[in-house]
Amino acid sequence: MIPLPKKHIISLNPYSPGKPIEEVKRELGLKKVIKMASNENPLGPSPLALKAAYRALKKVHLYPESGSYYLCQKLSAALNVRPENICMGNGSNELILLAIHSYASSPEDNIAYGFPSFVIYRIIAHSYGIKTIETGLKNHRIDLEKLADSLTEHTKIVFLCNPNNPMGTMNRGDEVEAFVEKVPSKVLIVMDEAYYEYADKKTFPDLVKASTERKNLIILRTFSKMYGLAGLRVGYAVGNKSIIETLNKARQPFNVNSVAQSAALAALDDCRHVQRTLEINEEGIDYIVSNLREMGLEFVPTSTNFILIKTGDSKKFFDMLLEKGIIVRPMGAYGLNEYIRVTAGLPAENRKFIKNLKIAMTQTGGK
Ligand SMILES: Cc1ncc(COP(=O)(O)O)c(C=O)c1O
Repeated sequence: MIPLPKKHIISLNPYSPGKPIEEVKRELGLKKVIKMASNENPLGPSPLALKAAYRALKKVHLYPESGSYYLCQKLSAALNVRPENICMGNGSNELILLAIHSYASSPEDNIAYGFPSFVIYRIIAHSYGIKTIETGLKNHRIDLEKLADSLTEHTKIVFLCNPNNPMGTMNRGDEVEAFVEKVPSKVLIVMDEAYYEYADKKTFPDLVKASTERKNLIILRTFSKMYGLAGLRVGYAVGNKSIIETLNKARQPFNVNSVAQSAALAALDDCRHVQRTLEINEEGIDYIVSNLREMGLEFVPTSTNFILIKTGDSKKFFDMLLEKGIIVRPMGAYGLNEYIRVTAGLPAENRKFIKNLKIAMTQTGGK
């Protein structure tokens, strides 16, 4: 006899992350590898955050603030909400897990979301044996009417990834507000805004205040993208006090480590890094888009720091680019076998990507 895991863990299809740079160097014997696969910040971490992280290292013999007190205070001031409206997570991933862990339990329960979207919703739900309802897209955007109509009496949570990963598209404020009104009050709405900082604020929904007032809405954001702290794992949820209390009860003590807390605190002051990131991203996306147009390649217009490109046979293009030391993301796991997803990089990285994409296209008999 051996210990047997739960049956839904045995059948779980685990998350397949972007390939790490060191792994590619090792496997292919390459000296220089660039990663454009995980929507990380090509400028690196916020310099202010880095300094704060070094300082915090001297105190790692002590446990961190269990509830990330100072970070909650600072975020609450920045967002104009109360600290009780914020729960910090070990990346926003942990908050997705905590939401499912806390609000869905029985095998009849389901969670709903538009798909393709962030596959973690599916993976975590299935790890708990909870069903998933996946509704399609309309013009590459989440079809909010379809999503609202798909909810059943057993739906516990509806996720809305906005802007949506991997599509890069965004649902406007007026549409999202109408959607929120349509969702029954007993269903928890989780707005996953991991790429919020990149979106056009003129049309992007601003639901922070509503999330503190409504009884069924939370917003998730992260320090992994814009602030360049993906490796430190810090995200947060904003919402009504009672939902936040529930997430706080369910989380582990010390879920955000002390170095991460200090770095995130400092990153919030680093307006220069945010500004430079937005500039380099806009320049990168513009450069990639203008080249794709020139090449006659289809792509999905993006509101984020990544772009979905229709290359045909995405695994093949992934492999060809990998051989040249460029890591992109093949989109098969999202049901998009003909697409690769590419994060905008530094100018030289974008040039290297386009140059090698052109070569790969020629070699495969493409345009
Ligand atoms: C849409 C979306 N949500 C959440 C996450 C998780 O981010 P993190 O756990 O690093 O905060 C990601 C990461 O890629 C994402 O793309």
